[in-house]
Amino acid sequence: MKFNILTLFPEMFEPLKHSIIERACKQNLININLINIRDFSKDKHKKVDDTPYGGGAGMVVKADVVYDAYNSIQNKNAKVIYLTPQGKTLNQEKVTSLAKEQELTLLCGHYEGIDQRVLDEIVDEEISIGDYVLTGGEIPAMVLIDAVSRYVEGVLSSDSVKEESFSAGHLEYSQYTRPEIFLNRKVPEVLQSGNHKNIDEWRRKSSLVNTYKKRPELLNEEEIKEAKKIIENNEI
Ligand code: ADE
Repeated sequence: MKFNILTLFPEMFEPLKHSIIERACKQNLININLINIRDFSKDKHKKVDDTPYGGGAGMVVKADVVYDAYNSIQNKNAKVIYLTPQGKTLNQEKVTSLAKEQELTLLCGHYEGIDQRVLDEIVDEEISIGDYVLTGGEIPAMVLIDAVSRYVEGVLSSDSVKEESFSAGHLEYSQYTRPEIFLNRKVPEVLQSGNHKNIDEWRRKSSLVNTYKKRPELLNEEEIKEAKKIIENNEI
């Protein structure tokens, strides 16, 4: 999967050079193509913005500079996503549908915004990562890349993705590792039993109880009833 990133701050994408995303890039499962919008400024001082028509605070990124940066991308069929608080909020369903694309172009805003005319010309979709305002679209673009890359074949072990689909719509079950006793708290016995049927059942219940305690709005009435019963009977 290829991500073209149009940004004024390519240095901000350093966090993608670590851990799972780094490995995926090295294995050519993911390709991150950073395009510095500033490189397309025709100004001798490399200026990319100007004062807004109509007055007001801040600066607006110029349409022609963004357009030229966009035109430097070879594949014009790649969906163009503008990261903005005005967009539709990103969720797991959107993440999995974006993971089906071969290539995405992410446009990161900064300052007071980008001239609307170039947005109207090139943007296919606007995405927000939540109802709060950040200083730019770079961190949201990284959030989107990280979340989408997890679904690209080979990036995670197939077991991790499979387990996630089992718990679809619910929170994950609780995890434990050695030592067996930590600060007087013991690992649930069933997890050491080697009985995989019982372990699966314990994990299903743990997932249900975690969801009930932290995000009850994700459960239907039947599930709430069952979670309450599991807690009452001290099954977890
Ligand atoms: N740019 C600034 N804030 C943002 C947000 N919440 N989501 C996406 N892009 C943004």
